[in-house]
This record gives sequence, structure tokens and C-alpha cells, in this order.
Amino acid sequence: MLIRDEILDWLREDDPGVLEELWSLADTVRHCCVGDAVHLRGLIEISSHCCRQCTYCGLRAGHQGIERYRMTEDEIIACAHEAVRLGYGTVVMQSGEDYGMEAPWLAGIIRAIKRQTPLAVTLSLGERGDDELRLWKDAGADRYLLRFETSDRGLYDMIHPSRNGLVSDRPAMLRRLREIGYEIGSGVMAGIPGQTFQSVADDIQLFEDLDLDMIGIGPFIPHPDTPLGRESWSRSLCGGEQVPNTELMVYKLVALTRITCPQANIPSTTALATINKASGREWGLKRGANVVMPNLTPTKYRALYEIYPGKVCITETAQQCNGCLRGRIKSIGRHVGSGPGARRREP
Ligand code: 5AD
Ligand code: FES
Repeated sequence: MLIRDEILDWLREDDPGVLEELWSLADTVRHCCVGDAVHLRGLIEISSHCCRQCTYCGLRAGHQGIERYRMTEDEIIACAHEAVRLGYGTVVMQSGEDYGMEAPWLAGIIRAIKRQTPLAVTLSLGERGDDELRLWKDAGADRYLLRFETSDRGLYDMIHPSRNGLVSDRPAMLRRLREIGYEIGSGVMAGIPGQTFQSVADDIQLFEDLDLDMIGIGPFIPHPDTPLGRESWSRSLCGGEQVPNTELMVYKLVALTRITCPQANIPSTTALATINKASGREWGLKRGANVVMPNLTPTKYRALYEIYPGKVCITETAQQCNGCLRGRIKSIGRHVGSGPGARRREP
């Protein structure tokens, strides 16, 4: 167990020799608590429409002039069957906050996937209403992902303009999701302008307090067509307090999260793979992660789901991503997990 001051010391540590100790501890905890299997979650980016204005995201409503898409029911169900053929245990349906995607329509798709396949179904659709969340749970959805992005309320409010004046409280929504019966996943971006080391230590504490089943961590990648990417936005911090949006910072967060939440499923994220295309995925897996999310989205839509620039896997097919990730997992002496790969909970 790490105390807060130790977490802060590790977050500020930059000596590669000293950091070896952190990597080694995280890898040992990962091996002991979740084993050597790497679970594959097939990602289907079902809609790029979004009504929100998150200042960092390329899909924000204010990013006009980009082509938007919403997959059809048949296309989504075909992706689920592809997931089964490729040996995945889970599909993750992700989208912007798209109210054009009506809840009963999606419930029908969830029911069809649960009826026709053995897949676990994860949703990642933004801050939808409790009635909708219940409807999808009743239709058979198993898990919901919603990153809280930062536990610093002031920073959160600055980068998440509210919708219709409604207060956004993602930790509260995560608790409701758990009550409704979902396994819950969350996470943060590392290096948001204005993010402090103290607040990142709080993020890790909040992961633990929420008792998360899944925790995704990636670097903030500036998107030039967003307010946060244009640097027209700033929140000045005293020297040395700004968390860098580096690869190293992501590894530290992944490792510290593994040690703090030993049983959680932790992906080596696409954003991490984007800032180190050659080996980011592998390093994430070697420093605490036990999940990867191969992209299943039909190739014709991939470039349109540009949350941040330079995203990997834009021109590949589902089969190519499958082969790529299996090869990477094998190259580091790990193996692909079978079945849905739910979090093991202490009795
Ligand atoms: N850089 C990195 N990650 C981003 N996300 C959104 N925009 C960016 C960006 N510019 C992440 C958020 C969101 C997830 C789907 O993608 O954490 O929750
Ligand atoms: Fe898509 Fe490597 S995971 S190309």
C-alpha cells in the first residue's frame, strides 16, 4: 500500500534507475493479482455525433465542418459477430453523447448481441439519463465506462461546459451506475493544462474510493481544432506544478494505479499507443496494464472518429488490429485471456 506522499514522490521522480523499482513492483502486483493474461475488448465507435463541448475533444459539437456518422444496427451487430470470430470476450460500444441515438434503439441492439453471442457488452456513451442506463442494463449490458478525467472540480468545470445548465458530476454518476448493476470503469487524462501533481494523487485516491472495475489512463493529446489544443485556454500554475502530458507520466500513473487498485482491469490505451507507436502498448502492459482494446470499427468510419490527432489504427481493418495486438502480447511473453475477463472480486 502506498501513502499519498509516496505517490507524490513517485509522480515527481524522473531518474530512470529509481523508476525501475516502481515498474518492477507494478509488474509483480499485476502478475500476482490479475495474472499474465491480457484481455481483448473489441472497440466499436458507433457514433461520432456529440452534443457536448468538452474543450479537449475533437468530436465536440463546436468542431463544425467535420463529417459525422452513426453506424446502423446491422453494422454494429456485424461487428459483434466479428468480435466472436476474432476470439474476443467483450465488445465496447463507444460514441459521443449522441441523443440522436435513441435509448430503445440501442437496447434492441444490446438484446440482439446478447441473444446471438456470448459477449460481455460494455457501453461508453457519455452522461446519459438514469432511465436510459436502466433500460440498457435490463437489455443485458454488463459494464459502463465513463472517465471522470480529473478529480479537480475547478479544472473539470473549466474543460466541461455544462449542457442545458445541468451540473455534471461523473463520480456521482459512476456510483449510480454501480447501484443499477453495472461493472464500472473510469479514468483520466494525464497532462491536462492546469492539472497539478496534487490533483493526480487525488485521482488515484478516487479510483480506489469508487472501487472501479476498470481504469483507463492516457496522455492528453492537444487537438488543434479545440480550445485546449489551440492554447487559447490557460490556467497558470506555479512553476513545476503542471503535470506533463508525457509517455513517462502515463506509465507512472498506470503503475501507481496497479499498486493501489491491484484487482482492477487496466488497459494499455490507444492514446498511449498514439504517442509511442512503436512500443507504447507493450510498455503499458509491462508496467501494470492487463487489457488492450483492438479497434473493430469499420475502416471507412475510423478517420472520422478523431478524438485527438494522430490516432493509431485509422487505416487498418479489424483483422489487422487483431493480428497486430496478438503479436505484441506474445512478443512480451504474455498470452491472450479467454472469456469476458470480468474483474475478480474478493469474496
Ligand atoms: N487527448 C487524449 N485523450 C482524449 N480524450 C478525449 N480527447 C482527448 C485528447 N485530446 C479521451 C477522454 C475520453 C476518452 C474517450 O478519450 O479521456 O474520456
Ligand atoms: Fe490496430 Fe496495431 S492495433 S494496427
